[in-house]
Formats: sequence, C-alpha cells, structure tokens
Amino acid sequence: MVSEKPTMDEPPEESQSSRRRCAAIILAAGQGTRMRSQLTKMLHPVAGRPLFDAALAAASGCDPVQTILVVSPGNAEQLRAYAGPRYPGLEFVVQQEQLGTGHAPAMALPTLDPTIDDVMILFGDHPLDTTQMVADTLVEHRASGASVTMAVCIHPTGGQHGRVTRDEAGRITRITEWRELAGERSGPKEINSGIHCFRLPWLAEQLPQLPLHPSNEYYLTDLVAVAAAQAQPGGPWPVAAVTVDLGAAMGVNNRVHLAEAERLARQAINEAHMLAGVTIADPAATYIDYAVTIGPDTTILPGSVLTGRTTIGAGCTIGPAARIHDSAVADGAAIRDSTIEGSSVGAGTDIGPYSHLRPGVRLAGGVHIGNFVELKNSEIGTGTAIGHVGYLGDTTVGADVNIGAGVITANYDGRDKHRTTIGDGAFIGVDTILRAPVAIGPGAITGGGSFVNRDVPAGQKVVGIPARPIPRHARAEGRAAETTKGEA
Ligand code: UD1
Ligand code: CA
Repeated sequence: MVSEKPTMDEPPEESQSSRRRCAAIILAAGQGTRMRSQLTKMLHPVAGRPLFDAALAAASGCDPVQTILVVSPGNAEQLRAYAGPRYPGLEFVVQQEQLGTGHAPAMALPTLDPTIDDVMILFGDHPLDTTQMVADTLVEHRASGASVTMAVCIHPTGGQHGRVTRDEAGRITRITEWRELAGERSGPKEINSGIHCFRLPWLAEQLPQLPLHPSNEYYLTDLVAVAAAQAQPGGPWPVAAVTVDLGAAMGVNNRVHLAEAERLARQAINEAHMLAGVTIADPAATYIDYAVTIGPDTTILPGSVLTGRTTIGAGCTIGPAARIHDSAVADGAAIRDSTIEGSSVGAGTDIGPYSHLRPGVRLAGGVHIGNFVELKNSEIGTGTAIGHVGYLGDTTVGADVNIGAGVITANYDGRDKHRTTIGDGAFIGVDTILRAPVAIGPGAITGGGSFVNRDVPAGQKVVGIPARPIPRHARAEGRAAETTKGEA
C-alpha cells in the first residue's frame, strides 16, 4: 500500500519500479526430439491444453507490454493457429536453426521495443508455470536491481536441470548444465527453474557474445556467470533469485515427463476445486481439464473425466464414471456412469447409469434420463422422463412427457435426417417407433409396439403397425386392461 501521496519531483519507489516496462519472450522452437513424436512437442496436451499454453498464460504475471513467441520453421504454422486467436497482440518470431536457449531470444531482440526495461524469458515446455511464479520473479528482479533474476527450485536429485552454484556468501555465481556436470554428490540440489528476467539493455549486449558449446548450442544460462563476473564493489549483486514451487522446473522433454506433468497439473486443478468447495472423493482418479468450472458443494466421484469447456453447477453429484465434454450441467444435477458431449443439462436433472448424450442435446430442469438412453441433437422439456433403453435423435420433446422403454426415433431415411416433435404431457408407449418426420400432439398416447408414421393430434391415442387412432369410446373401455404403457 502506498501511504504517502507521490509528489511530482520525488515519486515513491513503488511507482518508479512499476514504471519499468516488461516484455515476455516464450521459447517454443526446440525440436523436442526426445518426445519421439510426429506431433510437435508444444502441442502435446496437458490437462486439456497444449504444453506451451501454460507459459503463454503465465507470462501475464509480468504484465508484459509486448509478448513474443519464438517458434521453429516446423511448428510455426500450428503454434500460430492455436495461439494467434487466443492471445491477441502476441508476436511470432521464427528461429530458423535451433541453436539453443541463448540463441532463440537473440532472434526476438530486433522485434522488441528497445525502450522496454526488463525481459521475462520463459520456456514453452514448462506446463506448470503460473502467473504467480512469473510475478514473484519480476518483483524480486525490480527490488534487487540485478541484471539477471531467476526463479530457482530445490529438486530432490537435481534431475536434468541446470545446477545453481553459490559462493561462500551465498551469492549465485553460475549455472552448470546437467550435461556438463563432472561428478556430483547425491541429494537435493538448487536448480534453475527456467523462469528468468533480464534487464533488456544488458541482455541485448550480452546475448551476441555467448560462446557456442560442443553440443552446438548457446546456453541462456551462461549469462548468469557473465553477470556475476561483472559485480561492482558496493553495487547490488548482479544475479538475484527467488525460490518457487518445484512445478516451475517441470520441463517436458519426453513422454515420461509428459505423464508426470499431467499428474501434477491434475493435482493442482483438483486442489483448487477442493479449496473452492468441491468434494472430490478420489483426486487421483478424477480427471478435470484446466478450463472446467465447478460450483460449490458439488461432489465428484471416482472415474470421472471432465474435459474441454465444461461447466458444472453447484450441488451436483457427478460420477462415478461420468465423462462430460464441452457441456454445461446446471445446479443440483446428478450424472453417473454416463457420457455427455456438447450438451446442456438443466437443474435437478438426473442421468444414468449408462446413458449417452451426443452433441446438441438440451435437457431442461427436472428431467429423468435412466439407463441405456442415447440422445442426439434433441431438446427435452421440464419433468420429462426417459427411463429405459431408447434413442431419440433430432427430436423436440415437451414438458412432462413419459417415454416408455425401447422407444426409438427413426430419424434417418438413408439420405436425410428428419425431426420428431412430441407435445407436452404425451405418453409414448414401450417399443414405439417414431418414423420421422412426425409430430405427436400434447397429451397424445402411443400404444406399445406401435409404428407411428403419421402425425398424431393432441389427446389422440394411436396403436398398431402402422399406428391408427383408437376411437375415444374404445379407449375408455379398454383402459382397465391396458398393458401397453410400459412403465415398469
Ligand atoms: C533448460 C535450461 C536448464 C533448466 C531447464 C529447466 C538451458 C541451457 N538450460 O534445459 O538450466 O534447468 O531448462 O527445464 O537453458 N528452445 C528454443 N530454441 C532452441 C532451443 C530451445 O526455442 O534453439 C526452447 C525449447 O523449445 C524449450 C526451451 O527453449 O521450450 C528449453 O529448451 P530445452 O532444450 O528443453 O532446455 P533444457 O535442456 O530442458
Ligand atoms: Ca526442457
């Protein structure tokens, strides 16, 4: 909090540092050969989004005035297609040859606004980077006055990461890449996470001077020793660091890393939902993509997979074994052992077990969908029940309709799809075939096993193959012996 009013000639330190402008460069041009994949490494998904999206999203933590994604000739088109529409203003720079993390940002320098003060460099293969980590790094960078500020982590073994070396005074003096380690004690190591912030003028001067390593790469991390060697007596130490969660160092280089990243991302997502009031009975057996939203007091039971742009309301019971993709589920719904894709489910509706909503289904509130029901491109009205075995496609069903067991819409004539409409309060007997296009009026009844190929007026009962109206007096007489309604 700023307690004093700033004056024109003497602004407080906070506003001075916030006047420094930051750019972000995300490196995504690496070949990713260790993935052994036809698919470019950056597009392998983690928790429902491509690997490199996390670093792009995390970059907002430094409030960048300019953001550049460094891509390769091989992945430029695909990365641009994904990121262009999602990150308006994002600039793309192609690194023609993959000559290392010290070379890629040099390719972005000519594109950078030279009046920018600080540059945050992030690695595109770090799917657990967060805005907070980036923000923390920037805060430390501005407070320290260093040329280079890194986010570092404590790693149980060091892994395939750059090792941080400090002098007796605890000041960082260099990074040694794991490939170049010669004999190392076992045990925890301080490592370079891959989030770094540089003063731009210094970076622009130093990048072109980096040495080429025998691996035919320039290492960005060599700049740490360069900076440390430039320490001035009485000045701030030129290398600063902030220790962040080990997730920051999760770089995906192969598919073992990919699975580990997926697990950690899922754990973080699940924890955020739990802290926001969602019960997750077994987080290790619950798969929720990063973009899914869930209301409080919803319970997610094991084996559930919630993906894409799915929203779940409050007080729902989801699972066990619910698969919900790109769908909206309203408050108080219950879905078990069922699959829902591209559909919406109204409040208090229950589904399953073993039903399947294919794309384009809109269920109103208080609908009951029981066992082995398949729905496609259909609207179902409030309070309607489809309890057992059936298929409705391209169908509009009103409110309080009862659909008996085994009802099928024959919506496809081999060439075109046709619609079926069923009015409020209608009663569709077991095993009815509705040959579309066909309209069943409100309150109409179809007898068990009927084949309905003509519209049925409101209140009319039809039976038979093909279905024919039953006169009203016959209906009254036969009612007691009626066996065709089919509700169990
Ligand atoms: C790097 C760091 C290491 C750190 C680790 C964290 C270097 C030399 N090493 O190692 O200190 O602990 O990350 O995970 O920086 N890239 C390009 N162009 C290139 C080469 C790489 O854009 O020419 C991109 C890659 O796509 C990747 C990122 O830079 O997103 C990091 O490159 P990578 O080769 O994976 O570095 P690491 O060996 O993991
Ligand atoms: Ca890496």
